[in-house]
Amino acid sequence: MNIKILNQIATQMVTESKGILAMDESHGTCKKRFDALNIEATEENRRLYRDMLVTAESLSSYISGAILFDETIKQKTSQNLSFPDYLKKIGILPGIKVDTGAKPFSCHSNEKITEGLDNLPQRMEGYKSLGAKFAKWRAVITIGDDIPSTACMIANSHALARYASICQEVDIVPIVEPEVLMDGPHNIQECFDVTNKMQSILFEELDKLDISLSGIILKPNMITSGSDCKIKSSSEEIAELTVRCLGNNVPIEVPGIAFLSGGQSDTEASINLNNINKLNDNPWKVTFSYGRALQLEAMKKWNGNNHNNLDAQKIISKRAHMNSLASSGQYNLSMEND
Ligand code: 13P
Repeated sequence: MNIKILNQIATQMVTESKGILAMDESHGTCKKRFDALNIEATEENRRLYRDMLVTAESLSSYISGAILFDETIKQKTSQNLSFPDYLKKIGILPGIKVDTGAKPFSCHSNEKITEGLDNLPQRMEGYKSLGAKFAKWRAVITIGDDIPSTACMIANSHALARYASICQEVDIVPIVEPEVLMDGPHNIQECFDVTNKMQSILFEELDKLDISLSGIILKPNMITSGSDCKIKSSSEEIAELTVRCLGNNVPIEVPGIAFLSGGQSDTEASINLNNINKLNDNPWKVTFSYGRALQLEAMKKWNGNNHNNLDAQKIISKRAHMNSLASSGQYNLSMEND
């Protein structure tokens, strides 16, 4: 493990005015998104779609890293370079999702544990030789009747720490993602309480396994009310509670925090990130690592047809630009019409 290299990569991932493009949807998630648009979920369509994304104009002005899926890291772009080689050529760090998904958590109904530790050291070596500089592992915490259990938070945090250790051993920066889902009718205070507890347990587990905090990126949810909650919170309240929660839990050694979008609309995700940045006076950089909030509108425009590439690319470039501005607190909604 070389902590200097890890810290250099992590710092580059959250460099000023840039964020991370999450384009690592599993086959199941990608199929769900394609099905909704009547796009056939074939290997070639996934390749064409992701090729359209990474070849969008000016992407590297706003995006520091792209998270790939196992299939994509082995595929080639239209320029006949592998995805990691193409990304490297345009100045974007290639990353890889390495967990194998959230599965039912034994003895805990309605809760999930993320799997993928088996053979992870060998798989990590393989990804490293393909060019990966960082990795991602997502833990899923659900708010509901009597859940989440403390057991679920501990088990997922321990798995995140084991994964982070395996990454750091080979100088790959772990994105550590404890996602408290937006699904459900819970209010914003419940989201704060659960996220606060999850982040607290997570940093205890990372500490127990001697993870070098200057060589990780945290990828949390923002503190919002649940998607079925009747009371909608203002962006200012979301920003205030999110910064408070991070301030309670995230040690100053962590170079950066890159949020997931979690089901927020694309403009909500930009406004909230902007307000968080206006408020944050902690030392860590705060940026985005969005999937849906960067991609969904572009995917709709693409619609499985490469004739739509240029129009779809304008949309992904614009979302990346808007979020880049939000990552330094310089975004406002009126810019959407420019
Ligand atoms: P969303 O931004 O769509 O929540 O996805 C981010 C991600 O990478 C989840 O693991």
